[in-house]
Amino acid sequence: EADSELVRRPPVVTIMGHVDHGKTSLLDALRKTNVVSGEAGGITQHIGAYQVELNGEKITFIDTPGHAAFTAMRSRGAKSTDIVVLVVAADDGVMPQTIEAIHHARAAKVPVIVAINKIDKPDADPTRVRTELLQHEIFVESMGGETLDVEVSAKTGENLDKLLETILLQSEVMDLKADPRRVAEGSVIEAKLDKGRGPVATVLVQRGTLHPGDIIVAGSEWGRVRALLNDRGQTVSEAPPSMPVEVLGFQGAPDAGDRFAVVETEARAREIADYRARQ
Ligand code: GTP
Ligand code: NA
Ligand code: MG
Repeated sequence: EADSELVRRPPVVTIMGHVDHGKTSLLDALRKTNVVSGEAGGITQHIGAYQVELNGEKITFIDTPGHAAFTAMRSRGAKSTDIVVLVVAADDGVMPQTIEAIHHARAAKVPVIVAINKIDKPDADPTRVRTELLQHEIFVESMGGETLDVEVSAKTGENLDKLLETILLQSEVMDLKADPRRVAEGSVIEAKLDKGRGPVATVLVQRGTLHPGDIIVAGSEWGRVRALLNDRGQTVSEAPPSMPVEVLGFQGAPDAGDRFAVVETEARAREIADYRARQ
């Protein structure tokens, strides 16, 4: 660690909240994509990872499902993040998974920014949301607390820049750093077996930089990185700290939540993976 060189890295921000409060829509509006329209029943069923840029500053977002069935995914999402953005629909208010998300953030000791969404709706009542949050010990600034909050609309785009600025403001005081020169390590966000491409793992690099050709171990799986793809499916030549990337080249799909690390040799990778497979 003596000659380690710590440099600033983008904040990793997990979006959490009750089902249908507009988490994926907000990310779509920020990225100018339309992920929501491709979701079965409009319900997010997996974790997605994306990057957004504002004035040259990157923010990494992790989208989580709000459906009650996906508690484990939300818990994982809150663990490898710097900031939680809690999305609360202004026409619906604080609901069971809003409260669950508050508990995950608190357990992970991660600061919360509240995004009061759907303020374009005629029955939106952002003040009610703030009052309801008080009961769960989330005290927003306008009510004398320290939690930053922003009223937004994923539909009209209102205040989306303000939300990004608020995230960057929060992350600045956290002074987030990592050494991009060391060997890469991080966590597996999700993984699947793709018919054409074989095992595909979406990983979040947390320290170091991941490169094609690297030998990687995650849980009881290993492989040599054949290609790295960014969140728009483009091939990239490296993945520095805080970048989410799809990794091709694993022999089998690791589990979501597994830690990954780059090792020196294939023999070493095989040894670690085999040992873990026997546990
Ligand atoms: P899960 O991932 O399934 O928990 O849902 P989600 O929180 O990602 O919500 P999603 O983005 O799927 O949006 C749910 C519904 O709310 C969709 O019909 C969106 O079009 C709508 N919606 C999202 N944001 C807004 C908004 O700001 N205004 C209005 N009027 N509708 C919105
Ligand atoms: Na939804
Ligand atoms: Mg969603």
